[in-house]
Amino acid sequence: MNHFSYIDGELCCENVPLRRIAQDVGTPAYIYSHATLVRHFQAFDGSFKDLDHLTCFSVKACSNLAILNLLASMGAGVDIVSGGELHRALLAGVPADRIVFSGVGKTEEEIRDAVTAGILMFNVESHQEIDLLSRAAENLGKKARIALRINPDVDPKTHPYISTGLRKNKFGIPIEDAEEQYLRAAGLPGLEVVGIDCHLGSQITEVGPFVDGLNRLRNLLDQLKKRGLNIRYLDMGGGLGITYDTEQPPEPIDYARALKERLSGTDTTLILEPGRVIVGNAAVLLVQVLFTKKGATRNFLVTNGGMNDLVRPSLYGSYHAVWPVAKTDRPPTTVDVVGPICESSDFLAKERSLPEALPGDLLAVMSAGAYGFSMSSNYNSRRRAPEILVKGDAIHVIRRRETFEDLTRGEQIPDLG
Ligand code: LLP
Repeated sequence: MNHFSYIDGELCCENVPLRRIAQDVGTPAYIYSHATLVRHFQAFDGSFKDLDHLTCFSVKACSNLAILNLLASMGAGVDIVSGGELHRALLAGVPADRIVFSGVGKTEEEIRDAVTAGILMFNVESHQEIDLLSRAAENLGKKARIALRINPDVDPKTHPYISTGLRKNKFGIPIEDAEEQYLRAAGLPGLEVVGIDCHLGSQITEVGPFVDGLNRLRNLLDQLKKRGLNIRYLDMGGGLGITYDTEQPPEPIDYARALKERLSGTDTTLILEPGRVIVGNAAVLLVQVLFTKKGATRNFLVTNGGMNDLVRPSLYGSYHAVWPVAKTDRPPTTVDVVGPICESSDFLAKERSLPEALPGDLLAVMSAGAYGFSMSSNYNSRRRAPEILVKGDAIHVIRRRETFEDLTRGEQIPDLG
């Protein structure tokens, strides 16, 4: 359930017609709904309310300070994967003891900064990282709390680019090496071993893979307890999918039920790292038709939003619904919705039936809140779009459109003699 709907034939975000936002801030623009963000966070987090847990929003899905701040104000922690995300999280007011740090390639500098900040836990992904982290913490006179990220070899049945928990993926420590690495880590001076972590992949639309993953982690937990390790946190990562088209992912409550059944008696705090399920359907990318173009075999709507604004269709062939902002009686036609960028992979939607459009018409590319703005770029020297947060009748610019000065900031022409 989200708060994008037609009121008197006009697509609105909460009470604000998208047409008005286009007039005020221009296009392309990302438009987030406050009520949807609140609803999705509460539906997810509330599903675990009878369990000791911490919902750590995955910053990579949507990193805007205002959104991180909003989620933190509702009790969320965050899952970060870089020094930049640590910086954002702290700036947004997320308490350090609600931050977990995942990622397969943390640098020494990133590790030092996170140890100094006093984050809740590092999800460590390799034996070399175990050693680096212990040394770094020791040098700072601290102990870093760690979980090992386990690669449980579970098929998440999703796009191969976003599968992470298979043996062939670069992520985590193979489950068969886990015990040895745990015992080694427990003996190092800079570390306190506190958790077990996994992340299977993203846009997972059934509970089966989560249940398989958790079963494997539970077995490991029992094994580690027998070896005298005090494991207090069990981190199941993120990955719960959403409806972009016809997918029917489990509701958060069903996902929670499946996990809870297998957690009883473990005496651990459950950590969850949802990204997409919180923000995915809480935003749209608003674009304007520049030209309608008849090709030799296809018809195109050339819009002012391109793959630099929303790369998911180009990168993964992802489906995003496209809705006209104003309802019309014009007859439907089949079109490709494309951007202005000089690549044939620059499309937002292919072979869609949409009412005949005219230059100037506005279109909403739906379900764009997760990995939308956060994966946008300046390719073709395009300025990144603004991000707008709508709450009721009010429009808040939470990131202004970039300027040409922003585009060249930091560049210099050297004197080459
Ligand atoms: N935790 C870890 C360690 C992750 O790597 C991820 C996402 C998450 C949590 C959050 O997963 P979510 O709940 O959002 O599925 N760019 C791709 C998705 C990449 C996901 C990467 N990891 C896309 O646009 O579909």
